Amino acid sequence: MIELKHIYYTIKDGDKEKTILNDVNCIFLDNCITAITGQNGSGKSTLTKIIIGIISPTSGKIYFNGKDITNLSIDERARLGITYAFQQPITFSGITIKELIDIASKEDNSIPKACEYLSRVGICAKDYISREFDKTLSGGEQKRIELALTLAKKGECIIFDEPEAGIDLWSFDRLNDLFEKNICYIVVSHQTQLLKRADKILVLDDGKISAYGDSKDIISHLQSYQCKRVGED
Ligand SMILES: Nc1ncnc2c1ncn2[C@@H]1O[C@H](COP(=O)(O)OP(=O)(O)OP(=O)(O)O)[C@@H](O)[C@H]1O
Ligand SMILES: [Mg+2]
Repeated sequence: MIELKHIYYTIKDGDKEKTILNDVNCIFLDNCITAITGQNGSGKSTLTKIIIGIISPTSGKIYFNGKDITNLSIDERARLGITYAFQQPITFSGITIKELIDIASKEDNSIPKACEYLSRVGICAKDYISREFDKTLSGGEQKRIELALTLAKKGECIIFDEPEAGIDLWSFDRLNDLFEKNICYIVVSHQTQLLKRADKILVLDDGKISAYGDSKDIISHLQSYQCKRVGED
């Protein structure tokens, strides 16, 4: 379980200060998929980077299973079991996807075992296992492999930043294999299919939480909000 208490994140914008996250308080439960949604620039990726430790909050506290992790490094948090898949994967040459899976899972996997991780993200494993994780892969392939590597790490808290980005809608359903029981999932998404799959939804609006609740309730709330906006125009 992840708990955020009074999280603020401000940056210098010339002479002024810009508040990116403004007193965010929330709980991400175990055995639960919590989707974070909201407009572009509302602070979703910033919030996930604060949980993983890529950036530090200006103030506020982060707890993982009751332990204060606010001052822990990315590595220390990763060792506790917090893992993250970037919105835009970082690729590099010279290492095969099989080797990357072994590094991520900290074991020398058999080929069928390594292939399982790739199959879970809907790609034909045998075609990819010996390839390098480089720019010759398409955007969607890079994204899927990044997701597979995140699964291989077997975290207790897994954060996906827009797992659907670049993935064709035809095979989108197969991304449901991403989720297992007993894990705290935090999924940043704009995609209705993924929001419906979530148990809870948290809506960020200009750095503040504007809604949080059961997926069904929040989806209907968002739909009525959109209808009003269309009606107003
Ligand atoms: N270091 C920074 N310097 C300047 N602006 C920043 C910085 N970090 C974040 N921002 C701004 O903070 C806001 C929130 O960014 P963030 O990446 O969290 O948005 P997001 O909700 O993930 O958006 P998207 O849906 O487009 O991915 C944006 O306006 C972004 O430009
Ligand atoms: Mg983002």
